Amino acid sequence: MKAKDLWIPFSYENRRPVIIQRLLFIPSHYEEHLKFAMPNLSTIFQNENACHVEFCSGNGQWIIDKAKNEPDKNWIAVEKRFDRARKIWVKMHNENLSNLFVVLGSAQDFAKYYLRDNLVDGVFVNFPDPWPKKKHAKNRLFQSEFIRDLAAILKPQRTAFIVTDDETYKGQVIDHFLENIHFRPEFPKPYFINNFEAYGQSFFNDLWVNKGRNIYYMSFIRE
Ligand SMILES: C[S@@+](CC[C@H](N)C(=O)[O-])C[C@H]1O[C@@H](n2cnc3c(N)ncnc32)[C@H](O)[C@@H]1O
Repeated sequence: MKAKDLWIPFSYENRRPVIIQRLLFIPSHYEEHLKFAMPNLSTIFQNENACHVEFCSGNGQWIIDKAKNEPDKNWIAVEKRFDRARKIWVKMHNENLSNLFVVLGSAQDFAKYYLRDNLVDGVFVNFPDPWPKKKHAKNRLFQSEFIRDLAAILKPQRTAFIVTDDETYKGQVIDHFLENIHFRPEFPKPYFINNFEAYGQSFFNDLWVNKGRNIYYMSFIRE
């Protein structure tokens, strides 16, 4: 499979969700998500194995390693940028990762509209864009609404795991999870750890570790 093999078969005006060879395309600025007949996860993966979702997968290094090293679990990579989702899609096919599925679309839309009756066994978000300027703060993924949607898709006693290098965003993530009655922090106060050797590697993890930045690992358990 090559990058040129993935293209979205309709114009912006006629856009709609579609699954193309193990990639779900979710259009942006679109209102009719619930009309799409999304197959359930056991149909997508052809098994009943536990399913983990990584939102904001970037080039997919972290989740591709997971899919290879933990083949008895299913993995869904959600990335809104076409070039990055396509990179994951090409690797998924070329490495025959039948336990991986790619979503090209927004994390918020996928969590809210596409998992519906499916519950997942784990959520991961590695280095979500921090939008450090105050005037851009509304673009941050971790707002109360997204955390409510995570509570709806996670099985009880499973976790949402978030990693960031941004101290301010770390504080916001913790505040929002503490506000939600369905989650409790896994790590004791101050609710994060700075080292997690076995967590896995991602492009941004390597970048910031090499620059000597503090990394904040946070985990919240769905009650
Ligand atoms: C800083 S990068 C981190 C990438 C990867 N997780 C890593 O650790 O290398 C953030 C990624 O999240 C994607 N992203 C940002 N907002 C998103 C959203 N609402 N839904 C899906 N992907 C999003 C961006 O396109 C980008 O690829």
